[in-house]
Amino acid sequence: AATTRYEAEASPSVCTGTIDSDWAGFSGSGFCNGDNGTGGYAQFTVNASAAGTATLHIRFANGTTTARPANITVNGTTAGTASFEGTGAWSTWATKTLTVPVRAGANTVRLGPTTSAGLPNVDYVDV
Ligand code: GCU
Ligand code: CA
Repeated sequence: AATTRYEAEASPSVCTGTIDSDWAGFSGSGFCNGDNGTGGYAQFTVNASAAGTATLHIRFANGTTTARPANITVNGTTAGTASFEGTGAWSTWATKTLTVPVRAGANTVRLGPTTSAGLPNVDYVDV
């Protein structure tokens, strides 16, 4: 089926940090550079036509050599984790795929970092 792209820089997405465009290769007009630390997040409002599961494709870059793991919550409930390992450069983007439960209609998908390094740079989520 066709996917819908939810850009990190486009409302109603939320980025607790800055929307940057200084590393090449992103989609749209920028990416979410989350504040380094726990407590921040990148949030997407994902629409589902029916209750069930949705497959998230999260595009990110991590120019360090240390993974930046995050909890993935859907409507406030932890639905999975993603490791977001180093991609070799901030301009080298990779995709993490995970399947999460969703309800019909709008779903709040939040990427919450679990280490003090914070999130990788986050470009978009395709669903
Ligand atoms: C650098 C890089 C940012 C990145 C940050 C980080 O400052 O330019 O894009 O977000 O490192 O370590 O999180
Ligand atoms: Ca950052």
